[in-house]
Amino acid sequence: MCGIVGYIGKKPVQQLLLNGLKRLEYRGYDSAGIVTLDVTGKPTLLRAKGKVVELEAKVREHRTRDSVGIGHTRWATHGAPSKRNAHPHNAGDLYLVHNGIIENYLELKNTLSKRGYDFKSDTDSEVLTALIDSLYQKNHDLLEAVSGALQLVVGAYGIGVVSDKNPDELVVARKGSPLIVGVGEGEVFVASDASALLGHTDRVIYLHDGEIGLCTRDGVQLYDSEAHAVESQIETLELDLEAIQKKGYKHFLLKEIYEQPESLRSTLSGRVHTDTMTAKLGGINMTNEELRAVKNVMVIGCGTAYYAGLMAGYIAEQFLDGVTINSYIASELRYRSFTVPDNTIALIVSQSGETADTLACLQELKRRGVKCLGVVNVVGSTIAREVDGGVYVHVGAEISVASTKAFTSQVAAIVIFALMMASAKGVNPKELSQYITELDQLPSEIEKVIEKSVGDVKKVAKKYASYEHALYVGRDALFPIALEGALKLKEVSYIHAEGYAAGELKHGPIALIDDRFFEVCYLQDNWLYEKTQSNLIEMNARGAHVIAITDTDRRVAAETVIRLSTKLTLLTPLVFNVVSQLLAYYMAVAKGNDVDQPRNLAKSVTVE
Ligand code: G6P
Repeated sequence: MCGIVGYIGKKPVQQLLLNGLKRLEYRGYDSAGIVTLDVTGKPTLLRAKGKVVELEAKVREHRTRDSVGIGHTRWATHGAPSKRNAHPHNAGDLYLVHNGIIENYLELKNTLSKRGYDFKSDTDSEVLTALIDSLYQKNHDLLEAVSGALQLVVGAYGIGVVSDKNPDELVVARKGSPLIVGVGEGEVFVASDASALLGHTDRVIYLHDGEIGLCTRDGVQLYDSEAHAVESQIETLELDLEAIQKKGYKHFLLKEIYEQPESLRSTLSGRVHTDTMTAKLGGINMTNEELRAVKNVMVIGCGTAYYAGLMAGYIAEQFLDGVTINSYIASELRYRSFTVPDNTIALIVSQSGETADTLACLQELKRRGVKCLGVVNVVGSTIAREVDGGVYVHVGAEISVASTKAFTSQVAAIVIFALMMASAKGVNPKELSQYITELDQLPSEIEKVIEKSVGDVKKVAKKYASYEHALYVGRDALFPIALEGALKLKEVSYIHAEGYAAGELKHGPIALIDDRFFEVCYLQDNWLYEKTQSNLIEMNARGAHVIAITDTDRRVAAETVIRLSTKLTLLTPLVFNVVSQLLAYYMAVAKGNDVDQPRNLAKSVTVE
């Protein structure tokens, strides 16, 4: 969740670290810090509460020409956001940045306090710094100290460590938190996320769990957890600088909503063929017989990725007779005593490919021998590397903390997979062809709907932004859309919002309706329309302030109606969802919120 950068080379490092931190700020942004070492090892440690701009102001007053350093942008776990709790942490000769959680830190803290370490912060990371330092003091071998300390640690980490006794080394390590090393000429870059490396080098090494990297100006040598040298593989980074820029949009969130036709086309490209009415994924590594044998699909994710799985399940079960599809929240599943029936496969859904709970489920299912396929965006991410096969959604960098374009493409990718399975099982191609046609039409339908509805949505957002609560309701595939719509609203506008199955209204939430609430009701023509309309009427009878999002031409008795026109039927909910994304965006703007970096949230949740 935190962002880590590091550099050892010949260039002045302070600005380089700051630029890297700005790119990683979406991973955590409550405080930031950097430490750099001069040629004698003299450290300059600068930390600030708040965003990276606060740190930048401090750097301006303490410019150095140092060419080795590490930096961090924090998402608080242990201890409130403050300068004192900001990284890098110092103990003895060492400075450390850490992403993750050290679970046995209290026990270690006790032992280290007895040995004379005095702790200035509330963090687990400072304890890790002291632990490494306690071993470092024996013979000043940083690699050995890191390796020794990490063997005593329970938890997850991505770390960067430097010593003021040796400005010619930077040591990194990972377990459960991403870390990438970029290799240049006479210089090495370190980052928890590839975006920080863009423009510096495209030659990267992804550390595996348990690996330690010793970085010097001559390059990097990787070691296993016991400090035995291991081979590393340099890969080419396939991400360009343009992908992480706003391109004239005020916020990344708006850019990413508007990008959906394009990002979806990348997901569908080469996979959905309307000439042959077939859908095919290259990387799933399953034969037709294996696909035919599947009887049970577990779809696993967190947040928006979970809702994408839920939504795709509603669509896929319409044509996948005899297959049970269930979606699971990863943080729940990992601690449940669940049974996996025979002939099960798991779909692991994650934009970042780094979410800790999702990764834990993947590892548990693999341990039980379940075939796991990834539905992932970030190429080379941990989940992408650990699954048995899968599909990259290829939506490009998603920078806004609230996920939008990833959702749409995750649903599409899972539906494509389900279509492949249906076809292997001998489902009548005629039955599948409408899904293929609609997948193909979806990008242009989204484009059209954004263009035609954005004016209305802006007005509606202004009108309702001062409400305190919202209820989102829909039936069938519009139920996960209601959940996702409510999630988007609360994430960026901070309006309290709940998604409900429309049929559940009478079982509780209808009691909430009053003038502090508005209700978003999804009404789809020819799809349980009358049933949902009854729910709308029931809400109206209680003085509700309903915003109906609908594709019908009929009269809709709601306070406000956002009417769309689409030629889709089966995939219409995905178009409705884009309208909810715009609604959440414009409400957040109306409230003057920090749209791309909403309070308390982080893009990639690499801790439990
Ligand atoms: C965080 C993000 C969400 C995202 C969720 C799952 O909560 O803020 O936008 O949906 O994590 O992330 P993943 O990378 O696994 O899709």
